Amino acid sequence: MQLFRIQPLGAKSGPKIEPGIGAEITGLDVAGAISDETFGAIEDAFNRYAVVVIRDQNPSREEFAAFSKRFGAPQVNVRQKVKNVDFQERIRSEIPEVSLISNVIENGKPVGSQDAGRYWHSDLCYLQRPSKATLLHALEVPEKYGVVLGATRFADVAAAYDALSEELKTRLDGLTAANSFRAMWKRKAVDFGKRQLLSDDELSAYPEDAVHPIARTHPITGRKCLFVCDGYTSHIVGLAEQESDELLENLYAHIVKRGFQYRHEWRQGDLLMWDNCTVQHKASFDYALPQRRMMQRCTIEGSVPY
Ligand code: OGA
Ligand code: MN
Repeated sequence: MQLFRIQPLGAKSGPKIEPGIGAEITGLDVAGAISDETFGAIEDAFNRYAVVVIRDQNPSREEFAAFSKRFGAPQVNVRQKVKNVDFQERIRSEIPEVSLISNVIENGKPVGSQDAGRYWHSDLCYLQRPSKATLLHALEVPEKYGVVLGATRFADVAAAYDALSEELKTRLDGLTAANSFRAMWKRKAVDFGKRQLLSDDELSAYPEDAVHPIARTHPITGRKCLFVCDGYTSHIVGLAEQESDELLENLYAHIVKRGFQYRHEWRQGDLLMWDNCTVQHKASFDYALPQRRMMQRCTIEGSVPY
């Protein structure tokens, strides 16, 4: 068994909220042999802290995929599945469940997704079975004047749910919302120009919208978590458009209140994993070439939300 240490990172801003998201593991090599007992301890930390970084990792793509698979079934990136990617060949690797997130351009083509994480979101919530976990490994981290850029922020949506008024909790009971990959595509194409604008016909090759409870129950912790997000939720089922928009805007504003956040400042070699039920996340775009950011990524399928 490898000797290692798990340490909570604590809230970086606002009041500390128990149990608090964010923990760090040091002294572990994910490319080495990891016993079931050791993996169990990692999973416990994952369930308890929702955002867990394993420091100083240098796995190959194969080793990264093998470690990720310990959490469950990996999901093939939707854009790779549809084969409408204008990325370089290397993102369409022999291991299609590992993709790249990067601002790097090689031979005139992006090496990976350039516009991931622009809005607050939960990964693959537009599928019937959203991601339970995302693993993101920092290969290259942008830096300018010695300052590390490209942090990722996390919002604790279990704590956010707990902090709602009883009246609002009752109102949300039984309400569902539609989460849309296709609507997100159009919005990003227009807002950032990093992907082609596709017609409805072209978008029909991509996943249909998925309807999920607004407050879902975490399958392991049993906590209620807000499961609507700015990035993908298009509307609340059964409400008039204005009422739906207003309620969603209120919930988004509540979710991003500072007290619920952990901000991850990346170090090269960080292997970060997060629980897409307990937290939502958002990337920051405060860097540009020649500062390079390169991440390898794998998402793991979760259960149907209830
Ligand atoms: C993701 C994502 C954010 C980032 O990989 O799902 O949203 O900071 N990434 O790269
Ligand atoms: Mn994401």
